[in-house]
Formats: sequence, structure tokens, C-alpha cells
Amino acid sequence: MTNTAFRTPYFMINEDKLIDNLEKAKRLKEASGVKLVLALKCFSTWGVFDIIKPYLDGSTSSGPYEVKLGHETFGGETHAYSVGYSEDDVREVADICDKMIFNSQSQLHAYHHLIEGKASVGLRLNPGVSFAGQDLADPARQFSRLGVQMDHLDLPLFDSIDGVMFHMNCENKDVDAFIALLDTISQRFGAYLDQLEWVSLGGGVFFTWPGYDIDKLAAALKDFSEKHQVQLYLEPGEAIITQTTDLVVTVVDIVDNGKKTAIVDSATEAHRLDTLIYNEPASLLEASENGEYEYIIGSCSCLAGDQFCVARFDEPLKIGQRLHILDSAGYTMVKLNWFNGLRMPSVYCQRSHGEVDKINEFDYSDFKRTLSRWSTH
Ligand SMILES: Cc1ncc(COP(=O)(O)O)c(C=O)c1O
Repeated sequence: MTNTAFRTPYFMINEDKLIDNLEKAKRLKEASGVKLVLALKCFSTWGVFDIIKPYLDGSTSSGPYEVKLGHETFGGETHAYSVGYSEDDVREVADICDKMIFNSQSQLHAYHHLIEGKASVGLRLNPGVSFAGQDLADPARQFSRLGVQMDHLDLPLFDSIDGVMFHMNCENKDVDAFIALLDTISQRFGAYLDQLEWVSLGGGVFFTWPGYDIDKLAAALKDFSEKHQVQLYLEPGEAIITQTTDLVVTVVDIVDNGKKTAIVDSATEAHRLDTLIYNEPASLLEASENGEYEYIIGSCSCLAGDQFCVARFDEPLKIGQRLHILDSAGYTMVKLNWFNGLRMPSVYCQRSHGEVDKINEFDYSDFKRTLSRWSTH
């Protein structure tokens, strides 16, 4: 079956590209001793975990179902973190996680006794510094609820925890900027870290970006873990899955209301939400920077401002033509929704040996089921 036979919209994950990223992860691990746990919040299409598992040490989570999914489908170490646990959540995940990381001192005090003897206990600290392009995604933003700040720390609590987690980066491609954050952590928290077994430095370190100096990062991580005598972790999501996946769509109409808009059979609001939330236009495989023909690539949702990007092409677009929206895996499939009753993209994986595996497919019954299971009578 050729790819043109697949009905759009669909995601196509490319195994070779995924392995390129994973080989970089392996290099980082070998050179630094850091352990890597996949952040399921970014990517949890478990149908391709068999490709990822041999390279990483486990998974980390941001809510109770992710813990369960990581335990069931990824294996290795399962880290459980949530911004806010209910007591039921803690009881449900305590038996299946290896590390339980609380977001606040009040949650730690309330639930510590439920974890004792079951999992290693950690606390998220907020270092007060960060690398993040947008305020919405900045863990160190004013009044941040993410982690305990230094001046609120009840220091004796370090006797009751095994590790801490800092997450302060968002798509950080600058190794020196990361090392500066690491130095700040070492200075501010170093004396306390020395008492711990492990430290997680969270996600957002873009070590798979072309040209990223992995050896420099590895050396800095190694120094840090030797200095404080801790096992270090990183929690990569985007770095693992970046540049591996296209969202393939079809042009269903072209309208001209002062500017030409090609309307495609997908929508950012339903299928690529971060394009909208972060106002970051998508990139298209078929676009050409100096192309003669410019189009808005418009969504088929009802939201007036819902568009993928503005792009130029060497040839005029045609109805029925397919477009590949690049880099559409991280924080994308995990956020799919049924707004407007649009057809949900299928998921495929282009394997290294040439075959295409079907990973997921949806139909009307899935749409209906998410809306109600029972009706009033
Ligand atoms: C605590 C934590 N760990 C890991 C990640 C994964 O980050 P990324 O996908 O940017 O690597 C995030 C992202 O928000 C996070 O909040």
C-alpha cells in the first residue's frame, strides 16, 4: 500500500528519524551516566514504545493515568509526578511507581506515609530561574505553583525525601544557558542535594537539535552528579520525538477573500493545539521560501483565526493535493480532541524496513463515546 492510499488526516511517525534522536540520547547517557525517562505528557503513543524502550530507562508522568500507562506499556523505572494529587490518586499509583514526586510540602506531608516502603519519595523544587520563551510555559513565572521555592523550604524535610526534581527548561537549544542554570542550582541548593540519592533536572533540554553539543552537556551533567554524589535524571519529551512525524492533510477547498486560503481537512484547534496556544505557525514540507504563490493554510474548524501557517509554494495549490505538516508529534497527539466533530487523524509508523504499521484509527463510534456513554431516561 503506498502512503497516498491512506485516508487523511493522519500522522506518520518515521522510525529512522526517531532512532536518530534515540542514538543521540544513548550517546548522552553513555558519556554522562544520566538516566533518561520519557515524559509521557509530550508523547504517549504507546504503539511505538517498542522502538523507544531499548534506549531509555523508563517513563515519567504528569497525572495518574500516565503513571499507569508508563508502568503497563513502557516498563523500566516509572516516575510519578503530579501538580496536585488526590489521596485516591496516591493510593492508586503508589504500588506501580518507583519514584513519587510531590509538587508541594503540604502534599508531601499529607501523603508521605502512603508511599513509605513502596517507592522512593521526591519533591519538586523551583530554582527560581528558567529558560523558557513564553510566559505561559515558564515554570519560574511570577507566583508559579510549580515546585517549592527556596525561601519557603522547610529544611528538615530533606531527611524525609530521597530525591528532588527541578524542571526549568522549555525547548532549550543552548547548552551554555543550561549549564548556567545547573550552576545556579548547585550554588543555591548544593548543600541539601548532597544528602539525596537522586536529582531529576526535568525536561526541555533540546539535546537532539542539530549542532547541539552533546559532549559538553554530558561533561556538565557528569561533573554535577560527581560533585553532589547523586544519580541524575533528565525527563525528555520533545527532544526524543522532535522532527520525526508529519501530520498529512488534504486541501479540500481554496477561497480568496483578499488573500488565498487553502482549507485543509484538519484543524489546529483539534489536531495541533499548540500551534494555536503558543501562536507558533507550522512548517510544511511542500513550502518553498521564495515560491511565487502564497496561501494561508486554513483549518476546517469554525474558529475564525484557526490556521496552520502562511506559506509560499512554487506551484499553485490544487484541491485534493496533500500537504505534510512537519514536526507534529510532541504535545500534539496527546492533545487531540473532537471539536467540530472532525475526523480524527489515524496514526501510522513508517518502519525502517519499509513497511508501514497502523498504530491507531478512529471512527464515528469513538467520537460518540467520548460525548456520552449513557442517556437520561
Ligand atoms: C516536569 C516536567 N518534566 C518533563 C517535561 C518534558 O519537557 P520536554 O517535552 O520539553 O522535554 C515537562 C514539560 O512540561 C515537565 O513539566
